[in-house]
Amino acid sequence: MATQHIGKKTACVVGGTGFVASLLVKLLLEKGYAVNTTVRDPDNQKKISHLIALQDLGDLRIFGADLTDEGSFDAPIAGCDLVFHLATPVHFASEDPENDMIKPAIQGVHNVLKACVRAKTVKRVVLTSSAAAVTINKLNGTGLVMDESHWTDVEFLSTEKPPTWGYPASKTLAEKAAWKFAEENDIDLITVIPTLMAGASLTPDVPSSVDWCNKGILTFLSGNEFLINGMKGMQMLSGSISITHVEDVCRAQIFLAEKESASGRFICCGVNTSVPELAKFLNKRYPHYKVPTDFGDFPSKAKLTLSSEKLIKEGFSFKYGIEAIYDQTVEYFKAKGVLQN
Ligand SMILES: NC(=O)c1ccc[n+]([C@@H]2O[C@H](COP(=O)([O-])OP(=O)(O)OC[C@H]3O[C@@H](n4cnc5c(N)ncnc54)[C@H](OP(=O)(O)O)[C@@H]3O)[C@@H](O)[C@H]2O)c1
Ligand SMILES: *[C@@H]1O[C@H](CO)[C@@H](O)[C@H](O)[C@H]1NC(C)=O
Ligand SMILES: *[C@@H]1O[C@H](CO)[C@@H](O)[C@H](O)[C@H]1NC(C)=O
Ligand SMILES: *[C@@H]1O[C@H](CO)[C@@H](O)[C@H](O)[C@H]1NC(C)=O
Repeated sequence: MATQHIGKKTACVVGGTGFVASLLVKLLLEKGYAVNTTVRDPDNQKKISHLIALQDLGDLRIFGADLTDEGSFDAPIAGCDLVFHLATPVHFASEDPENDMIKPAIQGVHNVLKACVRAKTVKRVVLTSSAAAVTINKLNGTGLVMDESHWTDVEFLSTEKPPTWGYPASKTLAEKAAWKFAEENDIDLITVIPTLMAGASLTPDVPSSVDWCNKGILTFLSGNEFLINGMKGMQMLSGSISITHVEDVCRAQIFLAEKESASGRFICCGVNTSVPELAKFLNKRYPHYKVPTDFGDFPSKAKLTLSSEKLIKEGFSFKYGIEAIYDQTVEYFKAKGVLQN
């Protein structure tokens, strides 16, 4: 084989306990990376138990760091080639989104990027943004195709304040802050823009962030009216229900970190769908859950689709389609006891 090993590749994963980040840590270790990861509570053995278990796979060190604590990222990032920034404050029900999400998300981006500058070893930073930073706007209609040139309309969010508006606003403003800082400080930045993610989680508990998507799944399978309305609200605000397998998102993050020619933003979307379309799919695939499929005059076609064309042209291929995403997620929920057989 022509593979060359020039020392060990090193990466830092910021926010390692999370649903996405813990899987990313696992995939990096499996690829032979030495990994430093940051968590807020390194002494909370239960909260980090899944990361401790990953230490069997390779060279993984766990550091304490907080997005709002400037110096705390220096030690974990020192000496690293790659930095993956995934940590973000999530408080969907916050009454003070400005202080609970927007400010700490931006401050976190600055603190992580400042540590990258000081380290002098970091070749590329991969920031996890969100489709929520792309798709929210006042446009009407159907058939809109969203690509990397689109940005969520933050003025619309902060004026109209639709439910959960603080989260998309924080993701949009944090990504913009990252691009500005990277340009001013000559940092090689890539942003990955995933949709809702589904799939099994390594975390000890079913994570709250997965709620939106996974609850979405449970929603339909259990027929919970309140949650179905939440999913409808999400389609109305974000323009679609778009879903990607969490492993595909982690694979895309590593692919883009390693692909020298890659630059800019990259949408990572596995499946474009809508509430009524998804319900129909689930009803047919898992008939015994009797998923309701009558949504009255609720729009059956989503307003928009998200294009991953740039990512695919760069050479990436998705591993999971809608069937595999849902089969695995249903199994995961059954195993966790949150879904009946
Ligand atoms: N899940 C999705 O469907 C989805 C969709 C699109 C984009 N994303 C993005 O993907 C990334 C990961 O999401 P996830 O679903 O894996 O989230 P998650 O499971 O809720 O994890 C969030 C992480 O952020 C960390 N965090 C929160 N506030 C922090 C602070 N002040 N300082 C340091 N760390 C802090 C948490 O750390 P501790 O555990 O140590 O407290 C946790 O590791 C996020 O950037 C999110 O916006 C997620
Ligand atoms: C992890 O942090 C230590 C301490 O700052 C540093 O020496 C090392 O290079 C870092 N990176 C990795 C991947 O070990
Ligand atoms: C979209 O439709 C709403 C409700 O019908 C209307 O108030 C709004 O002006 C429309 N927006 C645009 C950009 O046409
Ligand atoms: C999602 O929509 C985009 C844009 O229309 C399209 O390019 C892409 O192929 C769609 N994705 C899937 C998995 O069908």
